[in-house]
Amino acid sequence: MSKVAVIGTGYVGLTTGAYLAHLGHHVVCADIVEEKIALLQSGRIPILEAGLEELVREGLDGGRLSFVLGAANAVPDAEFVFLCVPTPQASDGSADLSYIEEAAREIGPVLEPEAVVINKSTVPVGSTRVVEQAVGRDDVSVISNPEFLREGSAVHDSLHPDRIVIGGDDQAAAIRVASLFEDLQAPLIVTSPASAEVIKYASNAFLATKVSFINAVANLCEAVGADVREVVLGMGYDKRIGFEFLKPGPGWGGSCFPKDTRALVHIAEDAGYDFGLLKGVIQVNDEQIERVTAKVEKMAGGSVDGIVVAVWGLTFKARTDDMRDSPSLEVISRLRKRGATVRAFDPTVRRQLEGIEVCDDPYAACEGASVLVLLTEWDEFRWVDFGKVHDALARPVIVDARNLLDPAALRRQGFTYEGVGRS
Ligand SMILES: NC(=O)c1ccc[n+]([C@@H]2O[C@H](COP(=O)([O-])OP(=O)(O)OC[C@H]3O[C@@H](n4cnc5c(N)ncnc54)[C@H](O)[C@@H]3O)[C@@H](O)[C@H]2O)c1
Repeated sequence: MSKVAVIGTGYVGLTTGAYLAHLGHHVVCADIVEEKIALLQSGRIPILEAGLEELVREGLDGGRLSFVLGAANAVPDAEFVFLCVPTPQASDGSADLSYIEEAAREIGPVLEPEAVVINKSTVPVGSTRVVEQAVGRDDVSVISNPEFLREGSAVHDSLHPDRIVIGGDDQAAAIRVASLFEDLQAPLIVTSPASAEVIKYASNAFLATKVSFINAVANLCEAVGADVREVVLGMGYDKRIGFEFLKPGPGWGGSCFPKDTRALVHIAEDAGYDFGLLKGVIQVNDEQIERVTAKVEKMAGGSVDGIVVAVWGLTFKARTDDMRDSPSLEVISRLRKRGATVRAFDPTVRRQLEGIEVCDDPYAACEGASVLVLLTEWDEFRWVDFGKVHDALARPVIVDARNLLDPAALRRQGFTYEGVGRS
């Protein structure tokens, strides 16, 4: 079993540290946020992620997992150091590598001889070289190991990966990294650093393309009187197509797709290739957010100025508490700019957000609202008492931007219902 350090304890770093400890490795995780480290040392976690707290406790109790403040304090002794720090979008759409470079510079002088630095953050082509330079050590190899976990099922995805990609020029280091994951029995793809970096961006861009594609088809269905749910059923049984990511909605969001699609357009531009297809995918997504906003306006009687809009769902998808780049927040922002007052409910959000009245239950959010819009596909929204919702709303109008609810049942209860891509 190996000695591992993980730099950054966000969704990727904390999950990586916890499951590597579960596999038997000795793991030290570092972050720069003092409160986060204190919380983690006490066995609690700052994010909602199924099964992760249990895995962290298991690691702490077994003495295989610990948390320290500052990257440099995690790496002495470590044979492997995973970089799991943010790569946010820079103002020109490219990936901002400053967190990676800073972390790499910090650990460089204190790395063990022959250590391997493994980049798990999503980074553009050429970043392995950037990290090598920032680390500044001839005896240390840098490997790219992109992460494919999904928030909401991060632990499951990490323990049962579809594939593991290891990109490196140093074959011996790549094989050493592969040995960390041997118990996972996943297909292993060893590539050049550039291919590994492209694999990650291309995978996210492809998934975003599927969502934008089905949103465009949903818009077509509305125009021609077809039902997108029937269309998806007819398409998805084709094994070449499948059902995954063919769910129309308010557009994709979250901490990865928006920045990664734009970064890939930027990477292509830098390389002299105009990635027109991906630009179209991004454009469809931007338009989808506006279409949903306009639908709420239409269902409110033509304008939301001066009315209360109830919103169900604030996170960018269900089963996470992550609101980064959530389409829901973007729709809310547009509604507020057009004069609406927004009352919202989300199963995982209890704190107040600027300009939004966050309520404790779905009924309170509906109190006095002229329209209810469902923006995140939380399963519990199916099971609310729609009689109570009817009583709470000023007008019984629902915009179901996720096609989660049963239109026939709602119409029988006296609601006016509007979904996406279906009548
Ligand atoms: N969230 C996902 O679903 C996901 C999936 C695959 C890949 N990724 C990629 O993984 C990377 C990390 O994403 P995330 O969602 O885990 O980010 P995050 O923002 O949740 O966590 C990053 C953590 O790094 C810490 N940090 C920043 N600088 C540091 C430093 N110098 N030393 C120690 N800690 C430092 C931050 O305090 C934070 O806790 C990004 O490149 C992202 O694109 C994310």
